[in-house]
Amino acid sequence: MADIADLQFLLQENFCLTPDQLAAIAESFEQEMLRGLAGQPSSLAMLPSFLTRPSGQEQGTFLAIDFGGTNVRALLVELFGRGRFEVSTQLSRPLVAPGGFYNLIGARATAEDLFGFLARQVADIAPGCRNYPLGLTFSYPCRQTAADNSILISWTKEIQTSGVEGRDVGSLLSEALIRANLAHIRPAVVLNDTVSALLTAAYREPDADIGSICGTGHNTCYLEANPPQEPRPMYINMESGNYDKLPFNRYDIVLDQASDKLGAARLEKMSSGRYIGELLRLVALDASERGLVFRPGPPEFLRQQDSVTGADLALMLSDKSPDLAVIRDWLERKGVRASGAEDRGALRHIAFCVTRRSAQLVAATFAGLLSHIDPARVRRHVIAIDGSLYEKMPGYAGTIQETLTVLLGDFASRISLQLSKDGSGVGAAIAAATLQTGGR
Ligand code: GLC
Repeated sequence: MADIADLQFLLQENFCLTPDQLAAIAESFEQEMLRGLAGQPSSLAMLPSFLTRPSGQEQGTFLAIDFGGTNVRALLVELFGRGRFEVSTQLSRPLVAPGGFYNLIGARATAEDLFGFLARQVADIAPGCRNYPLGLTFSYPCRQTAADNSILISWTKEIQTSGVEGRDVGSLLSEALIRANLAHIRPAVVLNDTVSALLTAAYREPDADIGSICGTGHNTCYLEANPPQEPRPMYINMESGNYDKLPFNRYDIVLDQASDKLGAARLEKMSSGRYIGELLRLVALDASERGLVFRPGPPEFLRQQDSVTGADLALMLSDKSPDLAVIRDWLERKGVRASGAEDRGALRHIAFCVTRRSAQLVAATFAGLLSHIDPARVRRHVIAIDGSLYEKMPGYAGTIQETLTVLLGDFASRISLQLSKDGSGVGAAIAAATLQTGGR
């Protein structure tokens, strides 16, 4: 049994953001961007990518590696110009083997293990000994001094592999390729996945000027017209998942305190797939301890950290059956044999509130960014978005659009949100190509 009215009050108090609060977040996000660009203390790193927009005419065959938080993908990409491309070969392998046989992202894995694994993917995909330019999408905060020099500042998304922080990931990959007898293949460019997603859209759409990932992690980049100390427009990786001028609720605070990097990645911890399952777990556990759901006491799985994933929330929100049978089966798999209909409804409602707040926060940061790049609100903008939340979470894309309308009024009709599916791999190939052609 559940006490739905009290649960709703709890959720309202902790997860509802008013239009005024969202507008204040948008405004303070823009201020934080300006501080970051000016080199003042800011939770937004505003990292230069040393890449500019593609012309759309880039052509050729390129190798790409996409190193995200869950899988490594290797791709052979053909660019045909006029925005057209084809992924001719691709393979994807998990960073943690399903049976636990290897784990490349735990503290016991070394840089050599991880980059050796990446090099083996290249060996498996690179036909013969052809020397294709290689682009590496590396989805973590890196300080760059050139497109191919990229030092990992610190891991995010709870990755712990040792010996990578503070090192140039392009060199680590180069050394691993030499060890794998692939010395002729050299990484030409290292780029963030947001930049990759944006490049993929910008290859065919000149109005694409914002790229975002709403997946395991969350982050946004954009085309800065006047980057500090650079003569021409450049993509800037904001590392916006680290944004921290936000109204934290008690669950955000508990989650942060139990995380690897205390005080860091605060927006990401409120919004991304890596963390929203844990937020639901913390709310459901608290609600159960208050006697609002799962009476007489919390089921065991609610006491285990990270026992609920972002994909579980997508499953809950997609359950349209009258008695929430999908959630009932999910609970059974979690060891709850006879769940009450109200408890299942409560879980669904928590999932709704957690994901809605996530999409609203992301939209508020887009609104702040848009007022920086287009203060007169006159141009059309394409926001290229990749990631499982945006693609698969029921209601997510709609809430971003709806929140942009609340915050931007008519200007929102000039903003087009586009899924940049698999953009994080193809963009690495486009980046390698723009370095040859000079971009636009
Ligand atoms: C994390 C990383 C960031 C990446 C994002 C999406 O926030 O720090 O670099 O873009 O996840 O994968």
